[in-house]
Amino acid sequence: MSKLEELKKIRKDIIKDYSGKKIEESNLDRLNKEWQDIQYVKIKEIREETKDTKSFILIPDQDKGTMSLEPFKAGQYISLKMFVDDAYVTRAYSLSSSPKMALKEYQITIKRVENGLVSNLMLDEMRVGDGLTISKPMGEFGYNKIRDEKNVIAIAGGSGITPFMAMARAIWDGVEDFNLTVFYSVKTEEDIIFKKEIEEFNKKSKKVKFVITLTREEKEGYLNGHLNKMMIEPYIKEFNTVFMCGPKAIYKTMNEILSEFNIPKKAVHYENFFVDYIPSEVKEYDLKVIMKNDFVITKCHSDETLLVAMEKAGIKAPSMCRVGICGFCRSILLDGKIKMIGSSMKKAEAYNDYIHPCVTYPESDIVLRLDI
Ligand code: FES
Repeated sequence: MSKLEELKKIRKDIIKDYSGKKIEESNLDRLNKEWQDIQYVKIKEIREETKDTKSFILIPDQDKGTMSLEPFKAGQYISLKMFVDDAYVTRAYSLSSSPKMALKEYQITIKRVENGLVSNLMLDEMRVGDGLTISKPMGEFGYNKIRDEKNVIAIAGGSGITPFMAMARAIWDGVEDFNLTVFYSVKTEEDIIFKKEIEEFNKKSKKVKFVITLTREEKEGYLNGHLNKMMIEPYIKEFNTVFMCGPKAIYKTMNEILSEFNIPKKAVHYENFFVDYIPSEVKEYDLKVIMKNDFVITKCHSDETLLVAMEKAGIKAPSMCRVGICGFCRSILLDGKIKMIGSSMKKAEAYNDYIHPCVTYPESDIVLRLDI
């Protein structure tokens, strides 16, 4: 062990064993800091998009001090922050409205997820006039005229259409200037989100085109089957930029197709809101979370992330993207074995024992230090 590693270990052991005061989960409030960089909004309108998808139009809640909303770039997301069933939770949703409307209103579009805590609550319980707490817009998933080509191919599956609707609207409003072809894969015609508006874009816009493929039914006016090379080939130009947002299966297939068109990896941008990991067996461990000079002891499980375990314990752990990209949840692992999946953590951070709890699964008892 090098001298530096020895010092690191001594420091970790001191923090880990520090006998600050144990706080009961039921009495966490004094340690829970307010969420940072938040905006208060009210639901102005709810639109039924499909049988399992609704759009929410959000306006500033001036009674709570949010006088106007933060500007954003098409492709960015906000993080919805709620208290559900004794747990603090956050969920990331792409903004689907035009950035031109940003100061006055945002639109987010939410599809029901089986057993989804937040999606089901939003779809079933929320009414016009209800208040919500959201983050400022975040994320790098947007067109960058210095980096990207003028010919943009977007690949969307299911609710992955939302950032591309924001891009299409931004182009129509003159906020962005590029040519956008969106390949949108859905099961049936009934599942097409923004159907009417997509048809209007295909009639009125020279720069935006939507190509829809139905994977579970054949209907006139649509392609049929999963996205494939032949469907995309007519739209590939000499230079292209590709954006993808959708279920995991789409990324794998599309990457194979794109490599056949010789599109370089750096010209492909991804947005994903899922972390996919299944441990060989589900085990329960102790999780000690140190905050300031006090700590909480709770349970965590090998099939759920440390962030979820903390939220279930009522800890307002910082989070934003929940997929290991934004770095907002960064914490120090003081003890324990973990599996971190798909984090954008830099080598130097990892060397200093930082982890992203949103994509980290425990493989032993864990001691974690939260910087809140
Ligand atoms: S919440 Fe974004 S990296 Fe964890």
